[in-house]
Amino acid sequence: MSKVKALFATALLLLAVVETKAWDYDIVISTENTSLVYSANKGGDLRFSHYGAKIAPDEVGPLHGIWAGMNRVAYPTYGSEFNVLTSLQVVHADGNTTTFLALKDVATYPASDGEITVITLRDRHYPFEVKLNYHARKATDIIEMWAEITNLEKKPVTLKRMDSGFLPVRRGDVWLTHLHGAWTAETQITSEPLRPGVKSIRNLDGARNGQGDHAEVMLSLDGAPQENVGRVIGAALCWSGNYELRIDTENDFCHNLMAGISTEMSEYRLEPKATFTTPRLAVTYSTEGMSGVSRNFHRWARAGQMHGGSTPRDILLNSWEGVYLDVEETKMNEMMRDFAALGGELFVMDDGWFGDKYPRDKDNSSLGDWVVNRRKLPHGVEGLIEAAKKNGIKFGIWIEPECTNTLSELYEKHPDWVLRAENRDLRLTRGGTQLLLDLSNPEVQDFVFSVVDDLMTKYPDIAYIKWDANTGANNIASPYLSRDKQLQVNIEYHKGLEKALQRIRTKYPHLVMQACGGGGGRVNYGTMPYFDEVWVSDNTDALQRIYMQWGTSLFYPSMAMAQHVSASPNHQTGRRIPMKFRFDVAMSGRLGMEMQPSTMTESEKSFARRAIADYKQVRDIVQFGDIYRLISPYADRGVASLMYVTPEKDRALFFAYKILHYRYQPIPRFSMAGLDADKTYRINELSIPEGKSPSYLHGVKVKGSMLMNVGIEVPLGDEYASRVYELVEVK
Ligand code: GLA
Repeated sequence: MSKVKALFATALLLLAVVETKAWDYDIVISTENTSLVYSANKGGDLRFSHYGAKIAPDEVGPLHGIWAGMNRVAYPTYGSEFNVLTSLQVVHADGNTTTFLALKDVATYPASDGEITVITLRDRHYPFEVKLNYHARKATDIIEMWAEITNLEKKPVTLKRMDSGFLPVRRGDVWLTHLHGAWTAETQITSEPLRPGVKSIRNLDGARNGQGDHAEVMLSLDGAPQENVGRVIGAALCWSGNYELRIDTENDFCHNLMAGISTEMSEYRLEPKATFTTPRLAVTYSTEGMSGVSRNFHRWARAGQMHGGSTPRDILLNSWEGVYLDVEETKMNEMMRDFAALGGELFVMDDGWFGDKYPRDKDNSSLGDWVVNRRKLPHGVEGLIEAAKKNGIKFGIWIEPECTNTLSELYEKHPDWVLRAENRDLRLTRGGTQLLLDLSNPEVQDFVFSVVDDLMTKYPDIAYIKWDANTGANNIASPYLSRDKQLQVNIEYHKGLEKALQRIRTKYPHLVMQACGGGGGRVNYGTMPYFDEVWVSDNTDALQRIYMQWGTSLFYPSMAMAQHVSASPNHQTGRRIPMKFRFDVAMSGRLGMEMQPSTMTESEKSFARRAIADYKQVRDIVQFGDIYRLISPYADRGVASLMYVTPEKDRALFFAYKILHYRYQPIPRFSMAGLDADKTYRINELSIPEGKSPSYLHGVKVKGSMLMNVGIEVPLGDEYASRVYELVEVK
């Protein structure tokens, strides 16, 4: 027998031997197209066996053969494993720093959209339990995992680390894609191959974790990431506070993904009989590239992980870049009148409307004093609501309930309500006076709830609230928490925030709320269950927005992405961009405007009217359709292009943007995706400026297979050229 044949025979024999190894439990957690498999012997370790393609229960045997010697402990604890990073670190009541978990039992419960599997593990010596929970959301291919850690010891134990999930991924040409950025340049995409060592992604802002690094990653298993092909795992940690995602590339078989609350100056004292529940880690797997993973997250978000996921979004005008803090009744009324004339549906009065003793004229005062400033608004909010009604539009308002200023009546009354360290100066932020309230304090939680509750009680017609958070937690110590709990202030802040938001949502389920965090600071799945949308960035420059919206769309659905047309030159970058391009960029998500309409020329107004009317026709495709990203702006091809397709594949909306401009520039052909190959579609060009003709494709009927396999030539001649094509099935 040749050497190769001999090796092959030995491998087969090995496979057969391992295949017969029976485990007491094979736990197969499945969605429509994916499976997560654990195996264990009663009283033994829980081992990870598989995550990815769907596995039928009778296929688990051979799976063990494939993974022989490679399967990892499912939730590694400090002390039980050699030379590995761990997901759970506990100091037990007697000071013992090790934890050895063994399987106690497994239970499965039906859930409305799938199944919840609970695997109970217990320490071999201490009365200390960990329940690993897995919610398989069948239709969206998302599995949410989290741990419930219970202290049954006689005295408190300390949790030094408690990850939400641990996921081994077989080593190969695996690439990590993640989001990073800063204020006015959020959600930039980076992709890199995973190499030996630990990659750590973390955010320590304290209050808003969507600026800087993001708590979501994708792992492309077949080499450099592609949009519509290839196997990809996606993961999103659903937690609004500090976190760390670690990917430890071992020297042998696996990349281990670990995700949880940050341990940076943070630990949790768990009292006897108490349970600590970690945030959820949502994972998904797709064979349709990064866009496939995005579609899973978007469907999951719309099905309940974000608020109001089935309600179409209004087209709004926000007053911020139009008047900034110079809010004043006549201006507000004019803006409402002008926006209604363009076809707008909702007006949002941003910062600047409040403060009595300290009027909010600058950004250095008044946060916390949520009373109308009568000098600016003589007829109050009720007067504005009346005006909105006369114009046939809805009314919304801005608040920043988690913050105060040293120049405020709130701070004068409650100086002990802010986060501050003993014997230290206050760490002041925006305006040189801004502070974060101490949401670990139940009185502060009540106050934050009352900010919304009072507004809604006084003015029940408020349809929309923009909830801002313009400071991180620089003074991360709580006057409320006892000294032995100071290391959990970060966790208590976010639990407190969640409690206030839960109360608000229970009482006001129909109120539309935007999460803003000084731009994109609140773009995370920890807060999404309470918010209908996010403010993507304080940077409204349409060109830079293409990159940020692309990044945000990796994990967040378009209906949740607030995208506003603003003035030219742009206030953040000074760039001059034609109104059509600005509209076409904003129309790929939740369309809005953020400028003073009275400064628009007649031709700009007439274009805006048409674009808004067009958006109303296709809003359902953008807001509820499936995303297919086609050409990435990050690919440096001079253009960017994406599309949305309805679940029935009978309508679609295609966007193309020219993002570079030079002579003899090769513009690529655009191959569409996600259509039905056998259907014929009529192309209908939208957003056409007055006096301009549509491109040659307008009215043309083409088969889905042609659009996807041959592609289309899109005329993009001028600088900042853009095209929007609606595709409608010809029956
Ligand atoms: C933050 C928000 C802006 C605006 C201002 C108001 O920066 O991101 O959109 O609301 O606050 O002060």
